[in-house]
Amino acid sequence: MPKLNLKGFWRALKARGAGDGLLPFALVKYFAFTSLVIILLAAFALSWLIADNARTTLLRRSEAYSQLFADNLNRQVFLQFVLPTVVRYGRIAISNQRQYESLDQIVKNLTRGMHIKAVTIYDSGDNIVAYSTVQPLMGRRGLGGLEYRKAAQGEKNSVVISSGSILSLLPGSDAIFCTMKTYVPFRQETRLAEQTDDIMGVIEVEQDISEDLHAIIVLQAKVIVLSLAIMSLLFAILSMIVVKANRVMARRAEERIRLEEELNEVQRLASLGKMVASVSHEIKNPLGIVRSTAEILVGRISKLAPGNERLAMIIVEETTRLDRIVREFLDFARPRETEMALGQLQTPVERVLRFLQSELTRKEIEVDTEFAADLPEILLDSEHIYQVVLNIVFNAIQAMPRGGRLHLGTRLAPDGESVTLSITDTGCGIAPEALSQIFTPFYTDKNRGSGLGLAIAYSIIEKHGGKIEVDSVVGAGSCFTITLPLPPQDAEVSQVVVTD
Ligand SMILES: Nc1ncnc2c1ncn2[C@@H]1O[C@H](COP(=O)(O)OP(=O)(O)OP(=O)(O)O)[C@@H](O)[C@H]1O
Ligand SMILES: [Mg+2]
Repeated sequence: MPKLNLKGFWRALKARGAGDGLLPFALVKYFAFTSLVIILLAAFALSWLIADNARTTLLRRSEAYSQLFADNLNRQVFLQFVLPTVVRYGRIAISNQRQYESLDQIVKNLTRGMHIKAVTIYDSGDNIVAYSTVQPLMGRRGLGGLEYRKAAQGEKNSVVISSGSILSLLPGSDAIFCTMKTYVPFRQETRLAEQTDDIMGVIEVEQDISEDLHAIIVLQAKVIVLSLAIMSLLFAILSMIVVKANRVMARRAEERIRLEEELNEVQRLASLGKMVASVSHEIKNPLGIVRSTAEILVGRISKLAPGNERLAMIIVEETTRLDRIVREFLDFARPRETEMALGQLQTPVERVLRFLQSELTRKEIEVDTEFAADLPEILLDSEHIYQVVLNIVFNAIQAMPRGGRLHLGTRLAPDGESVTLSITDTGCGIAPEALSQIFTPFYTDKNRGSGLGLAIAYSIIEKHGGKIEVDSVVGAGSCFTITLPLPPQDAEVSQVVVTD
């Protein structure tokens, strides 16, 4: 229920940080997403850099290896084949089966276990394949390209033929393939194993490095997959934080709107209350005069025009009702001070029952009470509690126009620190959607009600440090439970005055 406490609302608004406090979070959110994208791009760039570096190193080493192998081949072929053959046959003719077999044996001995795919020796000048481990190439002309011509002029060089990328790792793709062909000039050597400037031909060494390239591409894929996995994990964690924070923000925004609405309502009620208080105050006195005059009239009419007293009685009844409403307005707008004193909760309850006894009998309402014996005394303003019980019992009577049962009971609460009073009727009940509104000032479903009875009761019980709850089933009845705290054990209070 709204309270006339504007300071409290502003404090609540500030405490919830519903305003500027949310802005930095939005910045953090965007910063986090941007850095996530940047880290992802950096991970891709890093994986590419690592792979590229590894590839360059692989090619450089393979080239050095091939050149070393070719130099060794040059020496061995020259010493073990060229020299002996020239001495024996006078000239070199590899078409001669014996010469071919001798050279082939030397080359095969050298290539064994050396990761060399093929060796080809070109004739000098004519670009003819003089010898090759791939036999069909033997004797073919013009196979050597630019690299052959460079080597024929003394320049060692290599060419790489490769195909395949990271996509080749996908099932069903073409296999990764990489071959390095190294061309070195085939030189004559001195007896001291020193190369001369005389070039006899070109040696082509073909190395298959597909496996190494495959390993590099797998490494690249692993770096990418690992980066993606780490990024996805980070992203999932971040998303969870963002979703959670968004929920908190939405809840805060909702709460802020609710507080603002309540604040508006409180302000509206505050000004309405002031207006009602001044109007009620002005009405109260003339109303008293009208009522006492009508009471005098009842006496006179009975003498002058017997039988017509009812007319004056109507004025008395209606002014009494109006007087009650005006008093309620005034009580609500300007509640009187609460004077607390130790007393039994049962006392004001019994007073109400005595006061309403004839009304309850007239409405055929059966009353049963169940007051706990030896209930400890509590701090209460007996007049105020009387008003609370009166309002609730009055509502119960109005809810049972064709009679029913009213039960009132007091007892010690299970926690042992408070007492409760329950007022149960077998009336029409309250609809669930109305339950949250019945304590709101001016909420009523009665033609002649002001809607202030329960609002006053609520604020009185609140001032007593207690609470008021309601359970209701439409068509079966309602139960109002008031809980009031026991005084602290060491308190020696005989009277306390509580002011707003
Ligand atoms: N025992 C009850 N059974 C059914 N409805 C109830 C009961 N008590 C309260 N209500 C509902 O709560 C509303 C608010 O009650 P409240 O006492 O504040 O105002 P009122 O009775 O309408 O007017 P008044 O100011 O004259 O008491 C009632 O109009 C009624 O709809
Ligand atoms: Mg009422």
